Amino acid sequence: MRAPTAKRVLELPKERREIIESIDSLRHERNAVILAHYYQENDIQDIADFVGDSLDLSRKAAETKADVIVFCGVHFMAETAKILNPQKTVLIPDLNAGCTLADDCKASDFADFRSKYPDHFVVTYINCSAEVKAQSDLICTSSNAVDLINKLPQKLPIIFAPDQNLGRWVQKQSGRNLTLWPGSCQVHENFSEEALIKLMLKHPEAEVLAHPECQQNLLDISHFIGSTSKLIARACSSDSQTFIVLTEPGILHQMKKKLPFKTFIEVPGIDGCSCNSCPYMRLNTLEKILTCLLNMEPKIEIDETIRIKALSPIKLMLEMSR
Ligand code: 13P
Ligand code: SF4
Repeated sequence: MRAPTAKRVLELPKERREIIESIDSLRHERNAVILAHYYQENDIQDIADFVGDSLDLSRKAAETKADVIVFCGVHFMAETAKILNPQKTVLIPDLNAGCTLADDCKASDFADFRSKYPDHFVVTYINCSAEVKAQSDLICTSSNAVDLINKLPQKLPIIFAPDQNLGRWVQKQSGRNLTLWPGSCQVHENFSEEALIKLMLKHPEAEVLAHPECQQNLLDISHFIGSTSKLIARACSSDSQTFIVLTEPGILHQMKKKLPFKTFIEVPGIDGCSCNSCPYMRLNTLEKILTCLLNMEPKIEIDETIRIKALSPIKLMLEMSR
């Protein structure tokens, strides 16, 4: 989806518009494509060539004809784009844009974990490093995890890593027993059940939309669970007029743009903190996009042996979820 920039961008302060004009001329000069995740700040979503969830973005990265990919998301997403496009330059506006799921699943610890289950097939959520992907048989995203697990032979024992909340939800949906790596997302773990229940009592007509990285007690009382793109699609297809949204609030931008007459309510973190925003996603800014296009840095680099090993489970995912 190419984000419609014109109207909102014209309303921005002059300095912001000038940055966007400079980004535009550089992206044409460099033959660059700007890919953005739904958790990016509104202005980044508006200037991106394509906005999507992890699966959409990896598909786009696989098919782009651009010479340069500016990945406005977190490191593992840009790394996936590089694994798929070794010949292209992949830039990330801020190299520190990590992810707790990926960072807390170190390749050596994962190798030890796998060694305890030598007969297991290893399904890994895309939120992990290239080194962990290289140790996996199949990659999945929150959009296709249940479908992919359902396609695997019934008797096959499976490791699922690194998100245990997503893993438990997949177990429930598929009826399969999965051996789970004990990781979680610091953002989705922080939604307050108390705040959610208060909001549900205040808006009894509201439909609760949740990302499967949320904890089970929250998923149990949600009405619809899915990846970011599935949550947006659900808001579009549902008859409900009001939604309580249990995921990073960046997603509300697309929801409000598509459905300006519906109401979207975000859920605060525990003790009312604003930790429902992903601190890593929010490191990217328009200024940093401009700087990275000017300097052609920071670039994503991956060891070629690791890249080749990491490529096959990603390719398998793309083939299986066609
Ligand atoms: P999606 O694939 O649903 O966009 O999720 C990515 C993510 O990092 C969620 O926290
Ligand atoms: Fe990672 Fe959570 Fe941020 Fe998604 S929201 S990128 S899982 S830290």
